[in-house]
Amino acid sequence: MKTVVSGIRSTGNLHLGNYYGALRNFIRMQENNRCFFFIADYHSLTTHPDPNDLFPHVKSVLTEYLAAGLDPEKSTIFIQSDVPEVVELYLMLNMHAYLGELEKTTSFKDKARKQPQNVNAGLLTYPTLMAADILLHNADEVPVGKDQEQHLEMTRNFAKRFNNFYKVDYFKEPVAYSDGTQMIKIPGLDGSGKMGKSEGNCIYLNDDPKVIEKKVKKALTDAGPTEPNSVKPECIENLFTIMKVVSAPETVAYFDEQWNKCEIRYGDLKKQLAADIIAATDPIRERIREIDANPEILRRAVTLGKEKARESASKTIREVREIMGFRSF
Ligand code: TRP
Repeated sequence: MKTVVSGIRSTGNLHLGNYYGALRNFIRMQENNRCFFFIADYHSLTTHPDPNDLFPHVKSVLTEYLAAGLDPEKSTIFIQSDVPEVVELYLMLNMHAYLGELEKTTSFKDKARKQPQNVNAGLLTYPTLMAADILLHNADEVPVGKDQEQHLEMTRNFAKRFNNFYKVDYFKEPVAYSDGTQMIKIPGLDGSGKMGKSEGNCIYLNDDPKVIEKKVKKALTDAGPTEPNSVKPECIENLFTIMKVVSAPETVAYFDEQWNKCEIRYGDLKKQLAADIIAATDPIRERIREIDANPEILRRAVTLGKEKARESASKTIREVREIMGFRSF
């Protein structure tokens, strides 16, 4: 069985793109892997150190991931700061991380440009903290998007360097998680290729159904087909792409046929699409309400996660200390 580790950003609500992309992957993953999923609250301090936001953000992210189907029994779901062992490993890895390689990391350069007034050392050493997250549980695989590939490569370098320096074969070199399936990419409703928070084109899982209806109604469309069987423009293709994910195949086939016959009515298509998005996400909203009404669910989940994560973490720290030459009197 493979060990998989993934950090979850502790800001922002889940949207359809997150859900049908990474999250559904996580839910599948936990069936046949030893998974560690954690909310990266320490990492959030590199950009958003706001004591008023920290807890509410962690809470809402945890709520939504659990509501969507991450299972605290099957996986180890925890809060990064509940496992302080990661901080010790971070410190140790930092002793073997070079300023030069940290400075030329793409994410560091981006953030330094975006927040020139706060180019802090945490930002610089973001990759060593992420490597510590991963190596702490000796992961085989890490699910990463494009923007995290460089961090994973650095993790492998840190692991290799540690092994070489201390002449051990201790850390594994984790690779990108892949189960052979293609990750579903949900497009935006504004004709753009991707649904994303920074794009401002999201349908959130906890949006009120009325809000979902409104957002779908406003989706970009064209003037309609003028010739039978014509190629769909991107904005229309996008609506069909989402429909293929949330609607029944017959529904998609019906609107496809209407399109091909030049008889499509976008108002009808949008009404159907909104109804199907709402139906697909209703159980999650219901579960969010349930969790909100019952704080014990979160408390139990994080307590269990913390226990399991610390067990694995403390073993690593014990062994790493030994390798590095720390001894007790
Ligand atoms: N850097 C990741 C992101 O921005 C989050 C993260 C932190 C992470 N630690 C991790 C992901 C360890 C995978 C493994 O999305």
